[in-house]
Amino acid sequence: MSSDTSSDTPDHIEVVFILADGSRRVCHALQGESVLDAALDNLVPGIMGQCGGGCTCCTCHVYVAAPWFEQLPAPHQDELDLLVYAHEVADNSRLACQIELHKPLSGVLIQVPSAQA
Ligand code: FES
Repeated sequence: MSSDTSSDTPDHIEVVFILADGSRRVCHALQGESVLDAALDNLVPGIMGQCGGGCTCCTCHVYVAAPWFEQLPAPHQDELDLLVYAHEVADNSRLACQIELHKPLSGVLIQVPSAQA
């Protein structure tokens, strides 16, 4: 289970979700899990992941705050093609299922679009 609260272990990565109401939810995920995994394991509202991470639904649309956004690998064409259909797309939009968590992303701020609340 990746919703462990022991953030000190080397394999755990902190993910901070900013919910549509402005509140924050601090979660911990394992290295190699996706932001979608962290959201689903911690019942983060507004991130549904209907296709199970298959990059076919865009119900995992999120905004990734700087400076973490710039650290992400460039999105694949499939992700870019799908983001066109997301609501309220912004320059820092990504699909949570396509973001793999690793140590440099620890503390990453992930904002849930208000349209998904
Ligand atoms: S979960 Fe469907 S595109 Fe991410």
